Amino acid sequence: MDLMDKVLSWAKRRGFVYPGSEIYGGLANSWDFGPLGVELKNNIRDEWWRMFVRQRQDMLGIDAAIIMNNKVWQASGHVEGFNDPLVECKKCHERFRVEGEISSKNLPEEITEHIENKHKKDVGKSVFEFAKENIADKKDFNMMFKTHLGPVADEDNTVYLRPETAQAMFVNFKNILDTNRVRLPFGIAQIGKSFRNEITPGNFIFRTREFEQMEIEYFCRETEWKDHFKYWLAEMHKWLEHCGVDKKHIQDYETPKEELAHYSKRTIDIEYDFPFGKKELYGLAYRTDYDLRQHMENSGEDLSYTDPQANEKLIPHVIEPSFGLERTLLAVLLESYKEEEVEGNTRIVAKFPRWMAPIKAAVFPLLGNDEKLVEKAKKISEELGAHYLVRYDDGGAIGRRYRRHDEIGTPLCITIDHDTLSDDTVTVRDRDSMGQIRIGAGEVKEALDKYYQGADFPSLS
Ligand code: GAP
Repeated sequence: MDLMDKVLSWAKRRGFVYPGSEIYGGLANSWDFGPLGVELKNNIRDEWWRMFVRQRQDMLGIDAAIIMNNKVWQASGHVEGFNDPLVECKKCHERFRVEGEISSKNLPEEITEHIENKHKKDVGKSVFEFAKENIADKKDFNMMFKTHLGPVADEDNTVYLRPETAQAMFVNFKNILDTNRVRLPFGIAQIGKSFRNEITPGNFIFRTREFEQMEIEYFCRETEWKDHFKYWLAEMHKWLEHCGVDKKHIQDYETPKEELAHYSKRTIDIEYDFPFGKKELYGLAYRTDYDLRQHMENSGEDLSYTDPQANEKLIPHVIEPSFGLERTLLAVLLESYKEEEVEGNTRIVAKFPRWMAPIKAAVFPLLGNDEKLVEKAKKISEELGAHYLVRYDDGGAIGRRYRRHDEIGTPLCITIDHDTLSDDTVTVRDRDSMGQIRIGAGEVKEALDKYYQGADFPSLS
């Protein structure tokens, strides 16, 4: 089994990610996050917000409506230009996304697979010959999901589900200036769902039709954009390191001029070595003053900024660091999943960074049928539960409980045994080293505090 298959089955088995609408046969690469997946996702989202919004003096957060006035998408260029190139199989009408002209060198793998799997008996000389004849009619396909406000479906009440969170930051630029004391450079950040009618979603949670973005629009003077661009690239790399993603698996890809999005003058994709190839994890774009100017022209509102000292009026330029939440999660799952040989057996252990781990500590009575041990373990887990996500577990032998929590990445396991009843001490076991220490039952909360502030495991005793 390759790593991707292992991670997929682990994610489902342990309740991180389930196939969406599974009992009805699923729905075109949609996924639901289970009890551990939602904790992991919330931890990543909250940490991102803490680092990039709360901890900074130059950043303000917003949470805007998903459905915006459709003039927003006309002004931003998405109605006109948010297209993917689409081709159709003449034989069965299945559709595919193709960059550039189809040639023997540019035949996407999914088209090759489609022909080999579905039209094998029709293939004459070669798969390419078949594709040339039958996979045709390249069209631009707009990826925005369209719907209508209210009961009547006509052109006047057409609206779109937002394909990026970014536009709400531009549309609220004037509100932010009018209601906050901000000075350039400063940023507006938002986390939320975006929707794209992707032609070919796939690779688990890598490309889906609904996903969450964590985006920053950082407003600056035109003359300073290069410095801010460099700064934000470094910040994005620091964030990945904080998420435990190995530097060796990451590289920057400078997008060639001809491939830049309609709003961008420079874009660097931060790519990750996914098992299915090097692919975009995050994007960093220099959006110039394109969006603010477009919204100024289309709304008639003044979206300029006045420098209070020089009394100079200008339209700020924008650097946009854009992070996908599900892609972060996928990279983290791939990085954290480890198989280790322990005394002749394989232990699966999820080495999530401490801050990210869904469950912060598990509390076990040594024997699940000993009333006194159970009572004490439940008491400790309730006390800790007021501060941390803690799970009480009395199922099976202690070794199996350790393995179960290793597999879901619980950093600390606390065991209550017969000595606890006489000397009021407990065993604390570390996920990564599997080392154990003995501390007073009354000191467990303090030990967890120290641990989650970064103390080494042995120093907790
Ligand atoms: N506002 C700029 C923007 O939306 P993008 O490169 O199209 O730029 C930014 O998207 C990030 O959103 C990507 O780097 C990726 O992390 C995430 N993303 C985009 N499309 C996605 C999809 N279909 N499924 C999951 N994540 C996606």
